[in-house]
Amino acid sequence: MADIKKLTNEVGAPVADNENSITAGARGPVVMQDVWLMEKMAHFNREVIPERRMHAKGWGAYGKLTVTHDVSRYTRAKALQLGKETELFIRFSTVAGERGAADCERDIRGVAVKFYTEEGNWDLVGNNTPTFFIRDVHNFSDLNRAVKRDPHTGRRSAQNNWDFWTLLPECFHQITITMSERGIPASFRNMNFYGEHTFSLYNANNERVWCKFHFKTRQGIQCLTNAEAAAINAVDREYHGKDLFEAIERGDFPKWDMYLQIMTEEQAKNHYENPFDITKVWPHKEFPLLAVGELTLTRNPENYFAEVEQAAFTPAHVVPGIGFSPDRFLQGRLFSYGDAQRYRLGVNHNHIPVNRAKCDVQEYHRDGAMRVDGNYGTQPAYSPNSAGYWTAQPEVAEPPMALEGAMWRYDPKDVPTDDCFRAGGNLWRIMDERQRALLIHNTAAEMAGVTKNVRYRHAVHCYLADSAYGSRMSEALDLRMETVEALAKLSHQALIQATLSSTME
Ligand code: HEM
Repeated sequence: MADIKKLTNEVGAPVADNENSITAGARGPVVMQDVWLMEKMAHFNREVIPERRMHAKGWGAYGKLTVTHDVSRYTRAKALQLGKETELFIRFSTVAGERGAADCERDIRGVAVKFYTEEGNWDLVGNNTPTFFIRDVHNFSDLNRAVKRDPHTGRRSAQNNWDFWTLLPECFHQITITMSERGIPASFRNMNFYGEHTFSLYNANNERVWCKFHFKTRQGIQCLTNAEAAAINAVDREYHGKDLFEAIERGDFPKWDMYLQIMTEEQAKNHYENPFDITKVWPHKEFPLLAVGELTLTRNPENYFAEVEQAAFTPAHVVPGIGFSPDRFLQGRLFSYGDAQRYRLGVNHNHIPVNRAKCDVQEYHRDGAMRVDGNYGTQPAYSPNSAGYWTAQPEVAEPPMALEGAMWRYDPKDVPTDDCFRAGGNLWRIMDERQRALLIHNTAAEMAGVTKNVRYRHAVHCYLADSAYGSRMSEALDLRMETVEALAKLSHQALIQATLSSTME
């Protein structure tokens, strides 16, 4: 057993002196022979790894999912069977800020959960909103360029942000949520989270349904006003991380109830909106929440870099009984995460303890940078092989998915029933006066300095969602109501043309 107080170099040899460089004479230069110094400096220079392209700032914790309701009629996933407990790791994040950003910014919050199931890891990589800004994967990199730093000034730009958002009307519902009081949660413990996309579930008889995942906080929803958040950010940029860590340390374990929304394949065919469009939500009246179980966080990570920074989640990681859907946005994500992580962490990132499955892993991937296990020793590296190693398991194949239609670049806005403003209008209508006033106030604050043409675009969208929402927004943004009403009569393309010029009066 090593003496834990003794310093060694990276291969275990004792280090004689960790403070005085070897110099040629008492006043002379450092010599190359101070190899311990070279090792120390060289390692330090390589300690920063790329941050996540978005969701760079985050905090993690371990916990468990306990299933308290029988949902076996929908899914055969072993982790979702009645009575089952599954260990998990969760990471909460903001989206737009870099690794050092303040926690209490107005933004949506990422919530990524890795369930270490007995059938492999299942990652649910969601957010604290039931919907998203955009719905085609093509728009994703642009969204992030618009909300992150301007290439000219190097600063965040409300102009870029709102210009992009208002040119894509499908952003409207998510804008309304982000500008509402929920845009700055009081803590991670005080918010819900969602898988957002439509996924699929299939049961032991291989019968498929479509589903959405919801997690509702037991701590109650609590939010911060702009003024409260600004005061916190001024003195504590790690406020949400601290809150989560300290709650778990004192044994006040946060809990969320897990629910499913289910839509049959038949219902999906006849649904008035595309059920695979992430910017739409499924009405709870028609598709009620079905209880599944409870998710509890019970343990803090030992080491931030090892466990939180190196955590890697991907929607591509599903287990038998849980599948994807035709959602084009989800399909794009299935590529993006593993690709990003092979760059950010390396090809063997799933060997890092926080990412490693807790069941047997038997695949034919070999070698690669930082392969630090036995690399499967003498076992065959090819398949099929006569040794009979690691054959595929057809019994877990999901049922075939029937698709129809010609291959084409379909624009959802061409569908006459596609309504980008219905959900945002519904949200406005269920808000009380305090919530509406905050939404208007927050939006006006975020749009300060944004040119009039872009402000008009947003006010028109508010008006199309609800005339009262439009008139209140128009007043707050210092716009003429007659112009808003006239612009609201235009088609989407004509509205864009009419509001292109930043000198618009
Ligand atoms: C086509 C759309 C999207 C693409 C291409 C995309 C891509 C990415 C990438 C590349 C990362 C960094 C991954 C890493 O370095 O480990 C990331 C992080 C993340 N994304 Fe997305 N994303 C998309 C949409 C979404 C949506 C709709 C959600 C929520 C439902 C979401 C939630 C997250 C979360 C929570 C993280 C942080 C994961 C963590 O804590 O490590 N993303 N995304």
